[in-house]
Amino acid sequence: MAIPFVDLKAQYHDVKDLIDSSIQEIFESGGYVLGKYNKSLEETVANKHGVEHAIAVNSGTDALRIGMQACDIQPGDEIITTAFTFVATVETIVQLGAVPVMVDINPDTFDIDISKIEAAITPRTKAIMPIHLFGQLAQVKEIKAIAEKHGLMVFEDSAQVIYAHHDGVYTGNWGKFAGISYYVTKNLGAAGDGGMILTNDDEVARRCISLRIHGMGRERYYYDEVGYTSRMAEIQAAVLAAKITKLDEWNVRRNEIAAQYNSALADSEIIAPATHDGNYHVWHQYTIRHPRRDDLMKYLGEQGIPSAIFYPVPLHLHEPYAQFANGEGSFPVTEQVSRECLSIPVNQHLSDEQVATIIHALKSFVGETSAV
Ligand SMILES: Cc1ncc(COP(=O)(O)O)c(C=O)c1O
Repeated sequence: MAIPFVDLKAQYHDVKDLIDSSIQEIFESGGYVLGKYNKSLEETVANKHGVEHAIAVNSGTDALRIGMQACDIQPGDEIITTAFTFVATVETIVQLGAVPVMVDINPDTFDIDISKIEAAITPRTKAIMPIHLFGQLAQVKEIKAIAEKHGLMVFEDSAQVIYAHHDGVYTGNWGKFAGISYYVTKNLGAAGDGGMILTNDDEVARRCISLRIHGMGRERYYYDEVGYTSRMAEIQAAVLAAKITKLDEWNVRRNEIAAQYNSALADSEIIAPATHDGNYHVWHQYTIRHPRRDDLMKYLGEQGIPSAIFYPVPLHLHEPYAQFANGEGSFPVTEQVSRECLSIPVNQHLSDEQVATIIHALKSFVGETSAV
């Protein structure tokens, strides 16, 4: 049987009764927007993350853009982040007229290299935006300390880390706000787009709630600021509210699979990803590195094993974002990782046999032996 990279059908079947009954109820009631499923999803997420406010929006991209606007980011403000991310991180900064100041990353955890942050701070710097990539938090304690020392905000790009935490403190508590994505393929994915803003700041929350409906504030059809149309569809909230009942279990299984890869690759020529001490990783991706990455990808593909490259070209080498760096060579680690990284299947529905097949293929590519 083919090995799926993500198994959306299996996810559906894990919670089919819940999804089917809630969608039927939505159609019967006609409550399509900002109804009880939005509310219950927001409550579940806020409780689990231990944050004061969870505000459902239309996408992870909107969560970042609205969150930053609610934190008063203005044209010309600088935000320190990295080029090794999905475009939305940097795109939303630019859409607000702010300036992404990118720095290099750590090679084995793929997150911001904290030793590079202070040199990038200028009088215009307003925030540090770590990307919690592939399922684990960046070095949040150290980043928070740097931000506090310089009077900066921290914005968490938490698109890939729902339910991840550091020393028991979940994402959403390490900065002014966090933006989560519920895009289809995320650990918790909608049947389309969806996102969530997490914050402990009452004023930021108030503005986010208003901004997601055109800046409509205290009264209907009275506008406090220029906003967006970014409600989460009730159908998406219902799908997410159903799937979230399984998320802890699914993340545990992802950890089991990652542990099998970690032990198989411990002494391998293929470089396994690392986990920062104190992090609970939710393994959105399991990303390995090898200098002959393209050959490895082809080799796996020939054996029916899917893989994916996140991200093949770092953002500073794309035309719209080139102005924010100095071309090739700006971020040597980022550029090398982009050439060498490969994400292999780590979805919770893989069997141990499928995982062993993947391990065997990886090892045989580099001439090493494995149990299968
Ligand atoms: C790191 C990161 N930031 C932001 C986003 C944007 O989320 P969405 O696709 O829900 O708009 C994503 C989604 O893939 C992401 O991976």
